[in-house]
Amino acid sequence: MDEKSVNDFIVIKAFEDSVNVIGLTRGTDTKFHHAEKLDAGEVMIAQFTEHTSAIKVRGHAMIYTPYGEVESESKQPKIDK
Ligand code: TRP
Repeated sequence: MDEKSVNDFIVIKAFEDSVNVIGLTRGTDTKFHHAEKLDAGEVMIAQFTEHTSAIKVRGHAMIYTPYGEVESESKQPKIDK
């Protein structure tokens, strides 16, 4: 695996409580190995590593990567009143 893909950081900023950042294992099996819960306003800075090949974000957050930014959405549709 090249150095760059392992050294890259991603930043996740939660826009709501209980955003989950889930690390998935590298290798033949792709399984959850860690879940970190962020509350609104909290930020997590993470890397892809020897053990982590994918990161799943559940909930409303902003995700900043060296390749660009993406906003994840929460499952519940927001109802405006
Ligand atoms: N022990 C994990 C690892 O070294 C920690 C980790 C790194 C992690 N990046 C992550 C956990 C991203 C969740 C999401 O791979």
